[in-house]
Formats: sequence, C-alpha cells, structure tokens
Amino acid sequence: MTTLSLTINGQKHGPVEVRDDLSMNDFLREMLGMTGTKFGCGAAQCLSCAIIVDEPDGTSYTSPTCIAPAVNFDGKSIRTVEGHARDGALSALQKAFIDHFAFQCGYCTAGFLNEGQVLLEHLARKPVPREKLEQTIADALDGHLCRCTGYIKYHEAVRDVILADSNRYLIATK
Ligand code: FES
Ligand code: FES
Repeated sequence: MTTLSLTINGQKHGPVEVRDDLSMNDFLREMLGMTGTKFGCGAAQCLSCAIIVDEPDGTSYTSPTCIAPAVNFDGKSIRTVEGHARDGALSALQKAFIDHFAFQCGYCTAGFLNEGQVLLEHLARKPVPREKLEQTIADALDGHLCRCTGYIKYHEAVRDVILADSNRYLIATK
C-alpha cells in the first residue's frame, strides 16, 4: 500500500492508502466515482482513458490511466472530463463537439476533449501559422480511437474553436 495525494480538477484528494497495483483508471472510477474517464482497450492503445496532467511550469499533457498505477500521480495535478465545464457552463470545446455532432456513443469523447484542450493550451503558448493548423490538429488527435468513426467531426470541432480565436492560437499573417 502507498499513500496517495493529488489535485483533481483543482480539488485536493487524499492522503489515501491505495494498493500499489491499483490503476489510475480504477482509482478515478471505482474509488472516487468519477466515471467520465472511460476504460476501453486497457492496453494504452485507444486513449479513451486519457486525462490531463498539469506541470508546475504551466504546460500540460495527456496520459492514459488504464495501465498507469495511481501511485504514479502522487503529488500531481490532473484534470478529467468532469473539470471542463465552469459553473455549469460548457467549455468552448465541449460546445463545439456538440455543435458538430462529433460523438455518437461518447465512449471516446473524454479522451478527445482532454487532448483538444491540451492542444488549445499549447497553441496559446506557441501559435502556429494557419497553413500548419490542419496537420497540427491531426497530429494532436492521432492515437485517439473512435469506434463510431467521428474523427473528422472532432477535427472540425477543434479547428472551429481555434479559428474563432485565431489571434490567440495562430501566428498572424501579414
Ligand atoms: S483504455 Fe487506456 S488507452 Fe485504451
Ligand atoms: S463516439 Fe463512439 S467511440 Fe467515439
């Protein structure tokens, strides 16, 4: 057993004793009841289980949770799909996913949402030229599997959010 303390969506959790082999996915879903993070392949292949990890320097990245031990997240700050809406208001990305009918069964949606959010935050720090945007989005979402094949709609939704705030996310062209 190991003692685990971490911050989830801005709220501190723990210290709590967890088995060393408890996966982060089981910690979130079974111990905390946060079932927005899904369990798909269980083999780090589909990313339906991906969450956001926030680094102290303000950068962020996604991590699968299915094969990652919960104790690996001790002391870390993470975000899950439950943390995107603010005071009941959906984020721009959540709204765009709905507007584009990006998801059908929704099983992959939390992973795509977290990946898209990380991309937005990355672009806000390091904008790209418009001509690189399509490849940038494709690269960011690559690896997320959608058995309902909503790939293009997810891509278009992320693109819409970026273009709606292009001064923030894209390098201005002269
Ligand atoms: S369930 Fe974790 S990558 Fe598929
Ligand atoms: S919406 Fe069903 S798996 Fe993507």
